[in-house]
Amino acid sequence: MTALPSLETERLIVRPFTMDDLDAKQRLNQAVWGEVTEEAQRAYLTWAVANYQQLAMLFQPPYGDRAIELKVTGEMIGSVGIVPAWIPWGVLASTQDTESAADPANARCSPEMGLFYAVHPDHQRKGYAAEAARAVVDAMFKRNLKRFIATTDFDNEASIAVMRKLGMTIERNQFSQPHWCQIVGVLENK
Ligand SMILES: CC(C)(COP(=O)(O)OP(=O)(O)OC[C@H]1O[C@@H](n2cnc3c(N)ncnc32)[C@H](O)[C@@H]1OP(=O)(O)O)[C@@H](O)C(=O)NCCC(=O)NCCS
Repeated sequence: MTALPSLETERLIVRPFTMDDLDAKQRLNQAVWGEVTEEAQRAYLTWAVANYQQLAMLFQPPYGDRAIELKVTGEMIGSVGIVPAWIPWGVLASTQDTESAADPANARCSPEMGLFYAVHPDHQRKGYAAEAARAVVDAMFKRNLKRFIATTDFDNEASIAVMRKLGMTIERNQFSQPHWCQIVGVLENK
C-alpha cells in the first residue's frame, strides 16, 4: 500500500510530520500529555518520519502520526494518526464471550487499525480533531479498510465525544480487566 498523501479539509491540512515540526510537536505534547524531553521528542519524530517511507517500501498500511495544520496560519496545532490497536473483543458488551468473561485479564486480542488524536488546548472545542480524523477515516475507507477502532479511558469525555461525532459505536469493557482497555469506539466501513 502507498503512503497516505497530505489530506485537505475545509480548514486543515493533515500531513506527514517533518523534523521541522520538532518544536511545535514538543509544545503540543507538553500541553497535552505533560513533560517530554527534547531528546525523547527528537527520537520519536525521527522514528515517525522514517516510518512513513519504510512502511510504504514494504507495501504495509500507512500507520503513523500525522500533523494537523491550520490552513489559514500554517500553524501545527495537533496530531492525528493510525496505530495498531490491540482489542480484547470478548470483554466488550456486544461481542462478549464466556471464555473472556471467566478470565478477562487474559481475553484473546486481535490487532485492529486504531485512530488517535490530540489537539493543543489553545485550539480545542473548535471541531478540529473530528475534522482531521474524518479526513483520515475517509482516506482509509476509500482504500477498503474494513473498520476503524479508537480506544480511551472511561472518563475521557472529549475523546469519546470525537468518537461519537465520527459515527462510532461506543463499546464498554464489562470488567475491570484488562485494565488498559476501557472504551472502544468502532466504525465499520459500510
Ligand atoms: C480529544 C481531543 C483531541 C478533542 O479535540 P477537539 O479538537 O477539542 O475536539 P472537537 O472540537 O473536534 O470536538 C468533537 C466533539 O467532541 C466534543 N468535545 C470536545 N471536547 C470535549 C470535552 N472536553 N467534553 C465533552 N465534549 C467534548 C465537541 O463538543 C464535539 O462535539 P459536538 O460537535 O457534538 O459539539 C482533545 O480534547 C485532546 O487533545 N485531548 C487530550 C488528548 C486525548 O485525550 N486524546 C485522545 C486519546 S485516547
